[in-house]
Amino acid sequence: MPTAMVTGANRGIGLELVRQLLDRDYTVHATYRHDMGGLASLNHPDLVVHQMDVRHADEVAATIENIGPSLDLLVNNAGVADGRWSSVSEIDFDVVAAVMEVNAIAPVRVTQHALPLLAAHGGTVLMITSLMGSIGDCASGRSYAYRASKTALNMFTTAMNNEMQAQNISLLLMHPGWVETDMGGPNAPLSVQESVEGIMARVDEQTLDMSGRFVDYAGTTLPW
Ligand SMILES: NC(=O)c1ccc[n+]([C@@H]2O[C@H](COP(=O)([O-])OP(=O)(O)OC[C@H]3O[C@@H](n4cnc5c(N)ncnc54)[C@H](OP(=O)(O)O)[C@@H]3O)[C@@H](O)[C@H]2O)c1
Repeated sequence: MPTAMVTGANRGIGLELVRQLLDRDYTVHATYRHDMGGLASLNHPDLVVHQMDVRHADEVAATIENIGPSLDLLVNNAGVADGRWSSVSEIDFDVVAAVMEVNAIAPVRVTQHALPLLAAHGGTVLMITSLMGSIGDCASGRSYAYRASKTALNMFTTAMNNEMQAQNISLLLMHPGWVETDMGGPNAPLSVQESVEGIMARVDEQTLDMSGRFVDYAGTTLPW
């Protein structure tokens, strides 16, 4: 039975990832920051729930210690939006730092802690990034910190790729689409179910040779 870990799993895309991974017979280690949210009602024998703020290295270490000896899939899903400032003069740099910490730095920290488990059988790291991190697609601008955080995540991941491949670990940078969640809002065209079905198909087809690709839930290659 394969084993997966999903961060930010109490709601939104993370919660649906947990549901669909359980349906596919994974043992799932689902993490939440404060509130178990939708995880509380899943009641599945293959679900293990951990309290973990992705910003806190001690909590990350404690969670990973309780998973093992191997991890087939790590999903770095937890993320935050920025202040949605309408001009450069409104940017709040404390918020910028907080967004960078959660969206760009924490996924790398969690991956670092999980490396021995991922290397055990040649696992996959799924980074939930965004098309908004694409420099080539940034015609509309704004969302300064959110965009920059996802661009940084894309570069961290790309820079890690050779080293990870040498350990048989595959990296997948995934834009989930514009999805109806608290972050995506009510006008988003995609349901969490549709988005996560696509994400699961991309995970299934992933090979070591594909490591480092930047695609959306439908498998379309995205511009950097
Ligand atoms: N929805 C979209 O249209 C869309 C598009 C592109 C990319 N994405 C990406 O998809 C991922 C999931 O987003 P979503 O739409 O499902 O958003 P969401 O409904 O707002 O969920 C965000 C999740 O991240 C968790 N989180 C935030 N900060 C955390 C921290 N410090 N430690 C642990 N967990 C933390 C939240 O936990 P709490 O409940 O504790 O806050 C929540 O579980 C994010 O990385 C987002 O950037 C979403």
